[in-house]
Amino acid sequence: MINTDYLVIGSGIAGLTFSVKIAEKFPNRNVIIVTKANEDESNTKYAQGGVAVVLDKEKDSFKKHIKDTLIAGDGLCNEEVVKMVVEEGPKRLEELLLWGANFDVDAGGEFDLGKEGGHSEYRVVHHKDITGYEIERALLKRAHQLPNITILPHHFAIDLVTNHHIVNDTSEKLSCYGAYVFDQKTDNIFTIKANSTLLASGGIGCVYGHTTNPIIATGDGIAMAYRAKAKIKDMEFVQFHPTALYEAKGESSFLISEAVRGFGAYLRNKSGYRFMLDYHEQAELASRDIVSQSIDSELKKSGETHVYLDCTHLDMNAFKNHFPNIYNKCLKHHIKIETDWIPVVPASHYLCGGIEVNKKGKTSISNLFACGECSRTGLHGANRLASNSLLEALVYAHNIFKYHSENDYEVANVIIPDWNDEGTTIPKEHILIQHNLKQMQALMRDYVGIVRSNKRLKQAIKHLDLIYNEVEELYKESKISTSLCELRNMVNVSHLIVKQSLERTENKGGYFNIDNVDK
Ligand code: FAD
Ligand code: SIN
Repeated sequence: MINTDYLVIGSGIAGLTFSVKIAEKFPNRNVIIVTKANEDESNTKYAQGGVAVVLDKEKDSFKKHIKDTLIAGDGLCNEEVVKMVVEEGPKRLEELLLWGANFDVDAGGEFDLGKEGGHSEYRVVHHKDITGYEIERALLKRAHQLPNITILPHHFAIDLVTNHHIVNDTSEKLSCYGAYVFDQKTDNIFTIKANSTLLASGGIGCVYGHTTNPIIATGDGIAMAYRAKAKIKDMEFVQFHPTALYEAKGESSFLISEAVRGFGAYLRNKSGYRFMLDYHEQAELASRDIVSQSIDSELKKSGETHVYLDCTHLDMNAFKNHFPNIYNKCLKHHIKIETDWIPVVPASHYLCGGIEVNKKGKTSISNLFACGECSRTGLHGANRLASNSLLEALVYAHNIFKYHSENDYEVANVIIPDWNDEGTTIPKEHILIQHNLKQMQALMRDYVGIVRSNKRLKQAIKHLDLIYNEVEELYKESKISTSLCELRNMVNVSHLIVKQSLERTENKGGYFNIDNVDK
C-alpha cells in the first residue's frame, strides 16, 4: 500500500492543473497521479479549436459569453456556474501562459481569436489546430519540475476505496480513502490510500464505436463513482460532434474542428446544396446539437452515409497557417482541401453530464472530488458550447485547489483490506470481451444515437442487461485486465445513459427523442 496526501486519477488538463497548483502550494505534501496510458494520452491532447475566453473587451463581453453558453445549454445550465466560469476564464488563461503554454497571436501581438458554433463573437484562444497538445505539453513540463508530484503512467484505477471496503465501518457518511490500482506492466494490484482523491478521468466517447475520442475515453471515473454510490447526472446529454472525417473503410476518429466552420467552411449534401440554411439562421455556426441533428436528418432523407465540408472558397494560405494538422491529415487521405470537399459525419464527442459536483468540485462522497469531462458542474446544461470544456476544467481545477487550500483534509484512520483476487484465473476467452464490446458499441450507435425513441431505449436496456450479466460473471472469475475493466465500466456508463434518457420526457439541447416531439 502507498500513502499519499492527494491522489489524482488522470493526467489530462483537469488532473494536471490541480496537481500543479496543489503541489506548488504545499511543497511538503505528495501528489500521486495515476494514469492508464502514456502520461500525455488524454482527450486533452487532441483538442483542436481552443479555449473560449473573453479577451476582446471592445467587441466581446462576459455578458455575451454567458448568453451564448446559456442558449447552447437550452435552459438547463446553472446560471451561477456559467457566470463564475466565464468570469474566471481570463485569470485561468493567465496561469496557463505562466506555465509556458503558447497561443497564436496576430501581427499586432494580440491573441488570434477563433470562432465556433454558437459563439456570437471571436473568443477562442488557440495554438494552430493543436491547442490541446500544446496545453498538455506545458502542463506536463511544469508537473515534472515539481518534486512532490509523482506520475505513474500505465497504472489503471480499478475502483475507489470507500466505507464499503472497510471492515466494521459504522460511519453513516460515505467517504473515499483512495483507490485500488492495477500496474499494467507488472499485473500487480495495490492500494493507494489518500487523504483526498480527485477523479479527472475524462470522457466516455468509446461507448460509441464511432467517436472523436482516443481509446482511453471509456468512462472509468464515472463508472467507479457510480459503483461507489456517488450521484451521477445528465448522462443523456451525449454531445455528437457534427464533423468527424468520414472514412468508408471503418470508423474514423479524426475531428475536423468546428473552427473550420468558424473560418467560413460550408456544409453541403451530395448534390452540393448548403442544407444548413434550411435548418437554422446561424447555418453552419448554429450550436453543435442543431448541426448534428440536421446532418442526421439529411442523411436519413437521402440514405447517404456522409455529408461534405466545403473549404474550396477559403483563403488557402490562411487556412494552412491556422489548420496545418487538419490540412495534412486530409492530404494523407487524398483529400486536397483547395479543390475537394471533405466527407464528414457526426461522431460521439463529449459528455455534458457525469459525476455531480458543487462549485468547489465536491462530489456527494466525502474526500472525493471530480473535475473536467467526468464531472457534471451545471455549466453545459443540455449541450456544451464549443471550447467551454477546457475552460471548465481550468476553472474547476482552481476551485478544487482553492477549497483544499482553505480547508485541510482529515487524515483517515482506517485499515484498508488488500485487493482480493482469490479464485480468479487468467481469462482464456478474450473473444467474450471483444464480442461484448462490439455488441455494446453497436447497440449504443443504433439505439441510443443522435435521435432516440422510447422503444429503442427500452430495447437497449434489455440488451444491455444481458451484456451486463455476462461481463459481471467474467469479471468475478477473471484476473484483472484493462480491457475487461474498461468494458465493465462502459457497460455501467451505457446503462446510465439509457436509464437517464428514459427519464427525460422533454427534448432539450443534445437530447432528441421522437416520442417527446409534441411535448
Ligand atoms: P482527459 O484529457 O481525457 O484526461 C483523462 C485522463 O484520465 C487521461 O490521462 C486518461 O488516461 C486517464 N484515465 C482515465 N481512466 C483512468 C483509469 N481508470 N485509471 C487511470 N487513469 C485513467 N474542448 C475544448 O474546450 N476545446 C476544444 O478545442 C476541444 N477539442 C476537442 C477535440 C477532440 C478531438 C476531443 C476528443 C475533445 C475536444 N474537446 C475540446 C474536449 C476536451 O478536450 C475534453 O473535454 C477535455 O480535454 C477533458 O479533459 P480531462 O482532463 O477532463 O480529461
Ligand atoms: C472542435 O475543435 O471542433 C472541438 C471543440 C470542442 O469540442 O469544444
